[in-house]
Amino acid sequence: MTTIYLDYAATTPVDERVLAAMLPYFREHFGNPSSVHGPGQRAEAALERARATLAEVLGCAPEAVIFTSGGSEADNLALRGLALAAREQRGARHIVSTPVEHEAVKATCHQLRDHFGFELTEVPVDRYGQVSAAAVADALRDDTAVVAVIYGNNELGTINPIAAISAAARARGVPVHVDAVQAAGQLPLDVAALGVTTLALGAHKAYGPKGVGALYVAPGTTLLPVQTGGSHERGLRAGTPNVPLIVGLAEALRLAAAERDSHNARAITLRDRLIARILEWVPESALTGHPTERLPNHASFALRGVDGNALLMHLDLAGYAASSGSACKTGDPRPSDVLLACGLTPEWASGSLRLTVGRPTTAADIDGLLTTLPGLVARLRAPVAPASAGA
Ligand SMILES: Cc1ncc(COP(=O)(O)O)c(C=O)c1O
Repeated sequence: MTTIYLDYAATTPVDERVLAAMLPYFREHFGNPSSVHGPGQRAEAALERARATLAEVLGCAPEAVIFTSGGSEADNLALRGLALAAREQRGARHIVSTPVEHEAVKATCHQLRDHFGFELTEVPVDRYGQVSAAAVADALRDDTAVVAVIYGNNELGTINPIAAISAAARARGVPVHVDAVQAAGQLPLDVAALGVTTLALGAHKAYGPKGVGALYVAPGTTLLPVQTGGSHERGLRAGTPNVPLIVGLAEALRLAAAERDSHNARAITLRDRLIARILEWVPESALTGHPTERLPNHASFALRGVDGNALLMHLDLAGYAASSGSACKTGDPRPSDVLLACGLTPEWASGSLRLTVGRPTTAADIDGLLTTLPGLVARLRAPVAPASAGA
């Protein structure tokens, strides 16, 4: 049985063109970009071409791009780096974030609070998990070190008004970090229009390889490096750069930007069909996240009284790969904090289902899922017959 994959928010396959761009840097051009000889110089040239390509996607200077080992590391470098530098420079001790961040941001904020003496304000979100610029502005203080807000939410699909949030923070001289790992490949990444200080990216949600990402760092920003060692990446991230993966990251995000409109138009048609039919055909189902301001490939639901993990296992057996929300959460029986922050009761939040479509997804894939899901949900909701006495 072939599996119909509907979990593109967890990860995507590598685009053949991206793979082809990477392969020479595993084989013939394997040099260390720090070496002075020819092979090293060829690797360095590839690294700098990748930086220039990504800079073009972001609308910034190449020097503003720092390569990392993924979205999580980019979030860590930005948040810890900005917070610790702001404390050193101006005695800042306060962080503003939201209750709907990915764990890479949330856990870093919690560590800064619990082990480094920062106070953390999580601004409230609305029932769609959206953060308003006004709520962020209300939370800002003179000693705020950084504001951290997600761009496109991994669990809910909701898109936040980043430009307005950045403007509110900038008006108070506070840097803004944005997690754009889910947004990359689907939403505009023009850092000047977004007005951000730092922006985290990864490759593997955008048909690039796993284990590579980047951080945009606005000119004039002071960050305390998290990973110390050699002077790679302007001294902000020590370690020999993974040239093949970096080449893949740049090519994946270049292609995604060039082809964004056509991919998004297809994804929106499939996504909207999923949403309309599930709400119609599955009783006591609700859309989670914003009805319109959401990622083009993202449909997410709460199904009252359903065990979300059991549903995922039954879907898998039926040939459908889906998710309950965040890939980091799968298997955890507790209802998601993100859904609770949107005001859902545990009875609804425990039955979360995330279906995300991708470039290979077809209308037939969606229709297959739509014929399977209602029956599975009904079976999982059916009361279990009591065991007979003496059995
Ligand atoms: C919103 C968001 N931020 C950060 C990450 C972490 O990225 P990576 O897997 O590249 O470390 C993910 C991936 O799940 C994500 O969805």
